[in-house]
Amino acid sequence: MFIDTHCHLEDENFSADRAEVIERAKLSGVERIINFGSTLKSSEAVTELAKNFSELYAGVGIHPEEIDDFDANTCARLAELAAVKKVVAIGEIGLDYHWEKDPSRRLIQQKIFVAQLDLARQLNLPVCVHDRDAHADTLKILQTEARGLRGVLHCYSGSLETAREVFKLDWFIGVDGPLTFKNSAKLPEIVKAAPRDRILIETDAPYLAPVPHRGKRNEPAYVVDVAKKLAELRNETLDEVGAYTSANAKNLYGL
Ligand code: NI
Repeated sequence: MFIDTHCHLEDENFSADRAEVIERAKLSGVERIINFGSTLKSSEAVTELAKNFSELYAGVGIHPEEIDDFDANTCARLAELAAVKKVVAIGEIGLDYHWEKDPSRRLIQQKIFVAQLDLARQLNLPVCVHDRDAHADTLKILQTEARGLRGVLHCYSGSLETAREVFKLDWFIGVDGPLTFKNSAKLPEIVKAAPRDRILIETDAPYLAPVPHRGKRNEPAYVVDVAKKLAELRNETLDEVGAYTSANAKNLYGL
């Protein structure tokens, strides 16, 4: 059994065949799927999907590339959505310095990230963090502003040293399609060194399809390809990987 701990099935790429995509996931052994919002609108959409499909859960939050969507009422609205039983996390939230080069806008990203960490603490929910090219500031914020919180650095792209700091906080790393890419850089070494109880698997569908689907639309069924690569690198069986990554997902998100 597998759990896809991060995807975006509310995306318009799935509007024609969403139910079939969920069915294919089930047939591949993917029994639970967590969709994450990036804006208020997509957070509402993933919450609705979780109500309508028994396999689906949701996380709600404002993504760092969508900070213009954040105002004085946003946290109250996110809290309303989070009151729905199948909303299990605040996310995805975090920092994205890849496209954002303006230091004042990066500072706004940090403030909105911290505000949503505070919201998660108030609501007693775990968090799913997006960190793109912002490893040092993300780690600093986790170490200083995330006390008492649990969470995952999703689509992990930092160094082994940073991963070790993340593990010290009892946080998780999320591993997806890039692990299977030829240019996966340091990721294979990181997953080999990671303790079993700190790894989650995810697709980030519709993005980042793993090999052999690379370049096509990604979907939750393909999380099994990520699990296979993990098993190969860590010298474990696919069943073992499915068992411990699912246990980790249940542990973090209380599914
Ligand atoms: Ni995502």
